[in-house]
Amino acid sequence: MIKEIQEQILKLKKETNSAILAHSYQSEQICEIADYCGDSFALSQWAKNTPQENIILCGVKFMAETAKILSPKKRVFLPNKNAGCPMAEALDYDLVKHLKKAEPDRKIVAYINTTAKLKELADVCVTSSAAVKIVKAMPDEKLYFLPDSNLGDYVKKQCPEKDIKLIQGGCPVHASVTLDDFNKAKAEHPNALVLIHPECNPKLVELADYVGSTSGIMDYAIASSSKEFIIGTEISIVEHLQFKEMDIFNSQSNIKNNDKSGYGPKKYYALSKKITCPNMKLTTLVDVFNTLNDLDNAFEINISEEEIEKSEKCILKMLELGK
Ligand code: 13P
Ligand code: SF4
Repeated sequence: MIKEIQEQILKLKKETNSAILAHSYQSEQICEIADYCGDSFALSQWAKNTPQENIILCGVKFMAETAKILSPKKRVFLPNKNAGCPMAEALDYDLVKHLKKAEPDRKIVAYINTTAKLKELADVCVTSSAAVKIVKAMPDEKLYFLPDSNLGDYVKKQCPEKDIKLIQGGCPVHASVTLDDFNKAKAEHPNALVLIHPECNPKLVELADYVGSTSGIMDYAIASSSKEFIIGTEISIVEHLQFKEMDIFNSQSNIKNNDKSGYGPKKYYALSKKITCPNMKLTTLVDVFNTLNDLDNAFEINISEEEIEKSEKCILKMLELGK
């Protein structure tokens, strides 16, 4: 059944000249039918450059808005209209406007997890993979970093030369993991390296063997000579890494011949099953099918030309400084 619906999606995708872009917190079934599955920075690059007329963004609303801002001539659809990001939606526009007025020389660095409207106030956007690089590349010393104060704390420690003020806010999913969860996972898997996303609590980030974005964690684990990893980010990353491990397993010719000697597969464990983003999990294959099957009645992202003009500057700056 899953294979059948995936085949129908691929057929409709071709017929409608659409590209499917998926954030890597989507399920394996969705990443399998995507033209591209990756982190927020890579998704923005793809949204800007993909040649198809329509973009089906499997992720959350701010990602689809970013795709629309970067490709205003394309139609951009969010397959499940309820997939939002509580961190992006919680940040108050008027508060940021007030901060900007209070200290006009302090530049605003906004995590890409912000609404299109809020991006109008930002000087530059960042994603977790490029935040340190972008902040370091900025000529300005005085900065606000919003809305993720955990990621902001990490950036602040990596960029001691800057004067960064943090705004309270964060990802409720990553921030839910505690030191107890960390110690429990470590006790269960004492030989495993801990790889952590900087949206997690700074106390855990300090204890990690590696800190990085979604794609940074995946690349690190795949390249590492270690065999066991505790993954401190959204649970789908554990699943994707396990599937990649199976691909490696199947592609090894000695294993194909059933000689498994000398092969020690890598093992991936979730730091905590609490790091499951309910919003990222709302989108199903059926939502993607329904969207492609009836684009005119699907949930399309509409942003006025005026708003696009105001909010694109900070995203383009991010692509320029973060590449
Ligand atoms: P990235 O690691 O892709 O920046 O994503 C983090 C996240 O929480 C996206 O919602
Ligand atoms: Fe938002 Fe966190 Fe979910 Fe990402 S993982 S969409 S930051 S709630």
